[in-house]
Amino acid sequence: MVYLDRNEFNFEPSQKVIDAVRSFDPATLCFYTRIYDEGKKSVVTVRLSEMYNVPEERVLMTYGGEEVLKSAIHYYLTKGNNKTILIPQFSWWYYNRVASEVEGITEMYPLYEETDTFSYHVDEVIEYTNRIHPRMLLLASPNNPTGNSLTPAEVSRIMESIPSDTMVLIDEAYASFISCDIDYIAPLVNRYNNLIIARTLSKFYGLPGLRVGFGFIGEGQEAYLKFANKYLGYNRFSEAVALAALESEEHYRHVADQMEWDRQLFQKELGQLPGFKVYKSVANFILIKYPTAIKAALQQAMAEHDYKIKFMGDPGLEDTLRITLGRPEQIQVVVDTIKRVATAK
Ligand SMILES: Cc1ncc(COP(=O)(O)O)c(C=O)c1O
Repeated sequence: MVYLDRNEFNFEPSQKVIDAVRSFDPATLCFYTRIYDEGKKSVVTVRLSEMYNVPEERVLMTYGGEEVLKSAIHYYLTKGNNKTILIPQFSWWYYNRVASEVEGITEMYPLYEETDTFSYHVDEVIEYTNRIHPRMLLLASPNNPTGNSLTPAEVSRIMESIPSDTMVLIDEAYASFISCDIDYIAPLVNRYNNLIIARTLSKFYGLPGLRVGFGFIGEGQEAYLKFANKYLGYNRFSEAVALAALESEEHYRHVADQMEWDRQLFQKELGQLPGFKVYKSVANFILIKYPTAIKAALQQAMAEHDYKIKFMGDPGLEDTLRITLGRPEQIQVVVDTIKRVATAK
């Protein structure tokens, strides 16, 4: 089965990751890490603190990026009376699910479809936030499934213009695909107490099976940190592999660069077909509008090839597909299959 439906990694892990797995001494697992005796969470948070230049106590380490989202949403929506979270209109379905687990109230702000992309209207995000005054505002950059993102300047403008008791959570699970610039993060989380930025090793670093996410939080959120941190430390095997992944930037950047070939192939081969539109993508997936009359035939054709792609069902996106950017030969199969089904008489 070829999985191109959950934005996983169809390439090779870096040599450093492979070496870290092979050389891991199982005896390490017979003991807890003792780094917490030094007041630190993990060797990984120490490394992330150096890389991102954010004090270690404000670096979060979690079970996948999903756990940054879950712990923050569960915590902030259950402290006090305000249980409202504001999320993008088209976004990862899981945000709504996590909020509903604690009886949160989800409100949405719009995303707009422009020529070949979706976009946030920053003024509108600000207006919605001031009017609704939610406990949390969720921004996703790049957003899944629409693939559009916010610049650091836009994030600053939002932070400057909204109530300071609204906790802002930026899901940056796919951010490293856009650029390796991480220098904007420290100034933002040092300036705004009400900000959390969530990242993960699952996407750019290609390790969804490792379940390591991380994040950065503004000052003054000690009660949340107490809630989120682990008393006896973290998974030591995951820590070793995570460190190796963080040292493999070059390998993963090279993989990310290769995905441009996929994007161009989709645009070239499907962009001109009647009823199709290939949206701009800055992540490891691409959103494609297609004529839904071919949906059943396309589902069958993909199943015959043992390929999984995502047929979107979200309101407003029922006529789109989201396809993970994989290896060239995989993407060629997807493109050929779609073309064959779309042009069949
Ligand atoms: C938008 C978004 N955020 C976060 C995640 C979290 O992934 P993980 O828990 O594997 O880090 C995903 C996974 O698909 C995602 O699509």
